Amino acid sequence: MDLLIKNIGMLFDGYRFIKNTSVYIENGIIKNIGENQKAEEVVDANGNFVMPGFIDSHTHIAFAGYRDFEIEWKIEGLSYEEIARRGGGILYTVEQTKKASKERIIKEMEERAEQMFFHGTTTIEVKSGYGLDKENEIKLLEAINEMKSHASIIPTFLAHAIPRGYDGDEYTDYIINEILPEAGKLAKFADVFCEKGYFNVEQSERILRKAKEYGMGVKIHADEFSCMGCSKLAAKLEASSADHLLMADDESLWEMKKAGVIATLLPATPFVLNEPYPDARKMLNMGLDIAIATDMNPNCYVGNMQFIIQLAVYKLRMPVIEALKAVTTNAAKALNLKDVGSIEIGKKADVIILNAKSPDFIPYHIGTNLVETIIKDGKIYSK
Ligand code: NIG
Ligand code: FE
Repeated sequence: MDLLIKNIGMLFDGYRFIKNTSVYIENGIIKNIGENQKAEEVVDANGNFVMPGFIDSHTHIAFAGYRDFEIEWKIEGLSYEEIARRGGGILYTVEQTKKASKERIIKEMEERAEQMFFHGTTTIEVKSGYGLDKENEIKLLEAINEMKSHASIIPTFLAHAIPRGYDGDEYTDYIINEILPEAGKLAKFADVFCEKGYFNVEQSERILRKAKEYGMGVKIHADEFSCMGCSKLAAKLEASSADHLLMADDESLWEMKKAGVIATLLPATPFVLNEPYPDARKMLNMGLDIAIATDMNPNCYVGNMQFIIQLAVYKLRMPVIEALKAVTTNAAKALNLKDVGSIEIGKKADVIILNAKSPDFIPYHIGTNLVETIIKDGKIYSK
């Protein structure tokens, strides 16, 4: 089976822009880029903008228990911490998630992933973290592995919060001794919410070092509300990514750069929490590789990567080309993926065609879905 995407007005291949070209695909793999090719099946891009499918490298879609009731508190000006103290936050979702069957979690996740797919996302990282005890964390990881999706799913075990009645060190031991041996078989990555009131640096390090022994890649929710050395830990452990980074100081950022850690920024989270944004321009000037992702979760319910690009451009003041790298090549690096993220010979054909004449249309057209055709592993899906 071969397929040609012809009449591409502008192509972003993951690195740069190429005008007036076509992409030739055989058995789901990109075989050629250039003009004048033929194939059994032809998709006409009509002069539009084409790029790799979005890679959403940080999501928490494995949950039951929406938190729309928090909106009222958010507009009153309550902080994330105050909302948690009032009975919202992670622990509210944990209670609801524990009550839900694996089948229900799968169904809810499949609906979320489907919406994301038709907004152009062809790879989705999904974290556990709303189960907390072994039974429920494994339930979530199994659900993530068993769910059906047009998008590729990358499972991550997340140490997310200390359950009520537990001491942090005790719960860290529980994760290491009880959860990780099983989670190690079900998840590609381990992640920790390293933050005041959640896991401290030492506990995070213990969890992630153990995870490495199980062959898992590591990620850290780092320096979101306070700078306590979590992104430095990411550098020390040579993590694939450190995520959030609103409060990360320069020293930590330099160490991340030296260690090759991807800086994953999640601008929809400060957007819904009314908080300042991370300094992406400084990070770019330092030469850090930036990925951007939705962080889709019950606090920040967004699966549309086009909106994330809009926030990256207007709020993080990232040049459009950097925002596009951040959802393709750099996002693939954040997930240690070698076969997707760019349109190059030999890569998987995960490609999207947008109703846009130029890449700038993505930040320019706010709030609409510009993605018209999604090609996943060489198969064509139209909106
Ligand atoms: O990445 N920061 C920690 N975890 C999520 C939020 C989870 C929640 O509020 O339910 C995040 O933003
Ligand atoms: Fe997160």
